[in-house]
Amino acid sequence: MLITERLLTWYDQNRRVLPWRARPGERADPYRVWLSEIMLQQTTVATVTPYFRAFLNRWPTITDLARAPRDDVLTAWAGLGYYARAHNLHKCAQILVATRDATFPTDAKILRKLPGIGSYTAAAISAIAFGQRAVAVDSNVERLITRLFAITEFPSVARSRIIHIADMLTPNCRCGDFIQAAMDLGAILCRSRKPSCRLCPLHVDCAGYQKGTAESLPVRRNERLRERQTRHGIVFFAVSQEGAILLCRRPQKGLLGGMMGMPSTPWRIAPWQLEDAVLTVFPFLSWSWQLLPGSVRHTFTHFKLDLRVAYGHGILHPTKKCAWVTLEKIETQPLPSVMRKALMHAADAICAHKIASSPAGDDALKV
Ligand code: ADE
Repeated sequence: MLITERLLTWYDQNRRVLPWRARPGERADPYRVWLSEIMLQQTTVATVTPYFRAFLNRWPTITDLARAPRDDVLTAWAGLGYYARAHNLHKCAQILVATRDATFPTDAKILRKLPGIGSYTAAAISAIAFGQRAVAVDSNVERLITRLFAITEFPSVARSRIIHIADMLTPNCRCGDFIQAAMDLGAILCRSRKPSCRLCPLHVDCAGYQKGTAESLPVRRNERLRERQTRHGIVFFAVSQEGAILLCRRPQKGLLGGMMGMPSTPWRIAPWQLEDAVLTVFPFLSWSWQLLPGSVRHTFTHFKLDLRVAYGHGILHPTKKCAWVTLEKIETQPLPSVMRKALMHAADAICAHKIASSPAGDDALKV
């Protein structure tokens, strides 16, 4: 297929040097390929690169990763988001060490059964790490094919056609290079906004380019429908008499699952009154709470969050899920970005507004 040949020739001359990628003539390391593919799900190469290096430094082999305490893995992952990936990464390493002597299966169908490995990731690992023929369709491949064939249906509707075309284009040899070539072309030239069609080795084959519609493809659902609603929450910055901070483990299932954070109300569309928030989170605790000025904004995939911070001070016995953590130990906790932001916000607000270490002024709420 001419398109495939042109793409591979372009890749030979323009491939990116990436820390998980084997250089020409080198054999790929399945551990690096797997780790990078999990990290790259929903995350850019620029964001992933320092995390990838840090993981590899700290856990050079899958056995090292499997033996690491889960909280160390979650803490090292903090900031990458989509924390279920970190849980699954750790689980997957443990399964492979326990059942396969720390080796990966080469076949996409078997890889697919492991935690955190979906059909795209299984195909990518099988092709990139083991040179097996597998059809991997991520958003780059989807965009490339949609433009090449000027497909005007929504990608979800055209999905099986796109997979069929990807299958036709996938070569028997150099299948891993083909997938990586599509990723590099998608990142360098066939970008979702402002693609560089004139520099693209495939523009002669590209129906989208010929029709002048490439940039508008793939068609997206009405952007307004995707507008993210704002949810509201209050987190509690609770300080012990010794100056430690109360952190709780979030439920395993759900957003930021298994990570640590300040105790929080649910995040909902209606803003919270402090009194309702206190009764919801600490129904049996008679502390004074003070709402700190300002709020923390954070964007998740499906919604925006406006988080206020309430400050309180007192005595409380730790439980299985909640512990007092000293300031020196905060860095070692698996805190997601939003909770780091909220802690910084609390510290800044308390300093800037010279808020007393025991909130008992007019603004304080005793419930
Ligand atoms: N995105 C997903 N997997 C990738 C890879 N192996 N190289 C570059 N970008 C990617």
